Formats: sequence, structure tokens, C-alpha cells
Amino acid sequence: MKLWGGRFEAGPAELFERYSGSLQFDKRLFEADVSGSKAFANALAQVGILTEDERSAIHEAFDAMLSESGSPGYFDADDEDIHTFVIRKLGESVGSLAEKIHTGRSRNEQVATDFRLWVKSAIRDTQRQLESLMGSLLALAEREPDALLPGYTHLRRAQAVLFAHYLLAYFEMFWRDWQRLQQAYERTDVSPLGSGALAGSGFPFDRHAMAADLGFASVSRNSLDVVADRDFALDFLYAASVTMLHASRLAEDWILYSTEEFGFLEMGDEVTSGSSLMPQKRNPDALELLRGKTGRACGNLQSLMMTLKGLPLAYNRDLQEDKECVFETADQVSESIGILALCVDTARLRPEAMERAAEDGWVSATALAEILARAGVSFHRAHQIVGGIVLSSVKHGKRPRDWTLDELREFAPELDERAMTALAPRQALGNHAVVGGTAPGAVGAARQAAKERLESLAEVSRSGAD
Ligand code: ARG
Repeated sequence: MKLWGGRFEAGPAELFERYSGSLQFDKRLFEADVSGSKAFANALAQVGILTEDERSAIHEAFDAMLSESGSPGYFDADDEDIHTFVIRKLGESVGSLAEKIHTGRSRNEQVATDFRLWVKSAIRDTQRQLESLMGSLLALAEREPDALLPGYTHLRRAQAVLFAHYLLAYFEMFWRDWQRLQQAYERTDVSPLGSGALAGSGFPFDRHAMAADLGFASVSRNSLDVVADRDFALDFLYAASVTMLHASRLAEDWILYSTEEFGFLEMGDEVTSGSSLMPQKRNPDALELLRGKTGRACGNLQSLMMTLKGLPLAYNRDLQEDKECVFETADQVSESIGILALCVDTARLRPEAMERAAEDGWVSATALAEILARAGVSFHRAHQIVGGIVLSSVKHGKRPRDWTLDELREFAPELDERAMTALAPRQALGNHAVVGGTAPGAVGAARQAAKERLESLAEVSRSGAD
């Protein structure tokens, strides 16, 4: 079925029908389209186009459609798009009354409304996934509050940090992602309904009532803008892409940390795979796939930006290309975050291996130089002196703990017993007691605060209309 045709003498080519049809993917807007149509029926009754009986007959038919829609093959149809499909189904139920439902309505405002409703619920879903991931990170930090990691810069051992501090770094990233999604949610939460094709509806609809019916926080201010605006979809794709970028960084860390070479942690059987040839293999496929899917999410953002570039106002059919990239990203991000939480929940840390790597490396070199600086040596000289100690260690195959105080004092007579404690990475942790630092007290406080912050997120994501 089509919602147009009177002006045409011949039908469209079959190839074009297939080319332009969108039902096979926009069927995912079904529930949103039905909700939007119910709200629109209410508005039509208010302006006297539908009687109360007609309005409730239409509502009943829509409710029946919602309960049938789970049946297999329900969407096997050749309608042009989901809006046409819904009206045809309505017609099958209420007869010619269905012809009134599109009075003063355009698919341009309809698809904008449906898509916003869909994106709002996808955002809430992603936020809830992020909350459980953040909960998993905190739970691991709580299980292993003392594990010590050689922190890296340039992938070279740099300074010791608590593994809990490292986990909280990812907590912060996912926290920002949640906030970005929230901002996207607020910009999506605007109702286009009543904007018509581009000029605003020709009927005096109460747009605020329609918005309230659909759980939108406000109504759009300009009809031309809102039928052509897909910024909300871009916002979602951007927030989702950044979320995936963060997830892929954690994935990359753990792919490395779980190698035989690092041996800092072991991934659970739940998220690893074997090799068809090499019996010994236990590969981190879940995290590799996540890293790979991140590319697709970023590609989807690019894809929609390119679709929107240079589009003249207002609606153009190009905009139909907005959906698949958003649907795909929503699926990918939601599954990826779920997988990542499972990886975190099932990982087994090897704190002894981490600590050995920290102790064998020179992660305390900075602490030693700072001891000298506190004793009045200029930091430049202190840096030179400790550099000399490290060079000598490398030449003589010595680890930090192999040095005696007397040997160290040959490099710098200012050094006393405090130098020996500074050489133990765990001791050096306590120096970093600034806000946001890795001293155990600071990390404990940050962990507690993070827990409370996480609870406050759930209050938002579990409220509201979706
Ligand atoms: N399937 C279309 C889309 O996704 C619906 C709007 C069609 N409007 C139109 N004037 N052709 O954008």
C-alpha cells in the first residue's frame, strides 16, 4: 500500500519500489509509530475530526496491533514504510475510518517523532548498561583494593598505581559517557508532532497536549527545523562512539594484560575462545570483537554526518538513511557494554605478577628523585642523579631492591633510610595523596564517592517515559 498516488499516471518501477522501501528496517519504529498515532488520534478528536467513538475504536485497534506484533511474520509485507504499514493494518481493523488518521499529518513529522521516541529509549538502555558496567568496575575494585599495578606511559613502566585507581579511571570515562548520553537525551526529548510536512499543521492542534501524551518534555519551536533536524541522532551516535572508544581502550589494555608476557590477569572462559589448530590457545575474542565493532560505531557517526551535509531545508528523502546507522550503533553499543561487564565480572587478577612487574621496574625512580628534592637538591640534579642510578642498574643487571643504602649514598650523600622505603613501589603510593591521586586513602575515598555517584545515576535513568 501507498499513502499517495492520485497525481501519478503510472506506478513506480519495481526496482525503485525496492530501492526506496524501508519497512525491512524501519519496522523497529513500530511501537513508536503506534504511540505517535494514538496521540495524534487524541488530537484529531480534540479538533473535531474524530468523534469520541471513532477515537476509541482507533485506540482499540492500535492496542490489538501492539499485542499481535510479536507473532512471526507480522512485518512480512510490501508497504513502503512503517507508517504506511501501520495505517494499512488500522484499515484492516477499522475499515474506512483509518483514512482519517492522517488528517493534517505528514510522514515527515511522523518519522521525526517516531525516531526521537526510539532514540530516547535506546539512550536509556545504553545508560542502564553503562551503570551495570560501572558497578562491575567498582565491584572488582572492591574485591582487589590492594592490588598494585605498574602504571604505564608510552606503554613503558612509569609509576606504581593501585589497580583500583586504574579501574576508577575507566569509571570516570563511562561516567562522562553517561552524562553525554543524558545531554543527548534532553535534546531528543522534544516533540515534532503538529509540525506537518514543513509549515506547521493546518489544524489547530494542541501541540503541548500531544507532547505530554507521548512523554516529551517540550515541543519544537520551528516546524521547518524539526522535520529536517537529526542532530539528536548525531548526538546519540557521538556519545555512543565515545563510549565505544573508551570500551576499546579497556579492551586493548586487557588484551595486553592477559598475555603470557604480562600475565596480570586472566580472562574468564565465558569470554574467551580456542583455536581450531593450536590446542593451547585461549584467545580474548570478546575484547577483540569489541575493539573491531568500535570502528563500525565511529563509521556510523561519519555516515550520518555525511548524509546531513549540504541538505537543503526542509525534509529530503536522504533522511531515510538516518536509521540503519543508529539502529546498528544502538545494538552494538548495548551488546558491547554488556560483554565488557561480563569480562570484568569474570576476570581473575594476578596481583603478584603485577606487583613483581612494578618491583622489577624502576617505577620508584620519581619517588627517589623527589626525596632528594625534599632534601634541598634541585629537581634537575636529583633527576640526573637518579638517572645515573638507573643506568648503573641496567649495566649491572640490578633491580631496585638489590641496592643498599651505602651504595646509593655514593651517588647522593643526601640520601637516608627514607630512600630505601621509597624504592618499594607500595611505599611510594602514599606520596600521591592529592585529590585524584593514587594514595590508598585517596583511592578509598574516590571509590566510596563513585559508589554514591552511581546510585544517583540510576534515579535518572530509571525514571521518565520510555
Ligand atoms: N520513510 C521515510 C523516512 O524514513 C518517511 C518519511 C517519508 N516522507 C516523504 N515525504 N517521503 O524518512
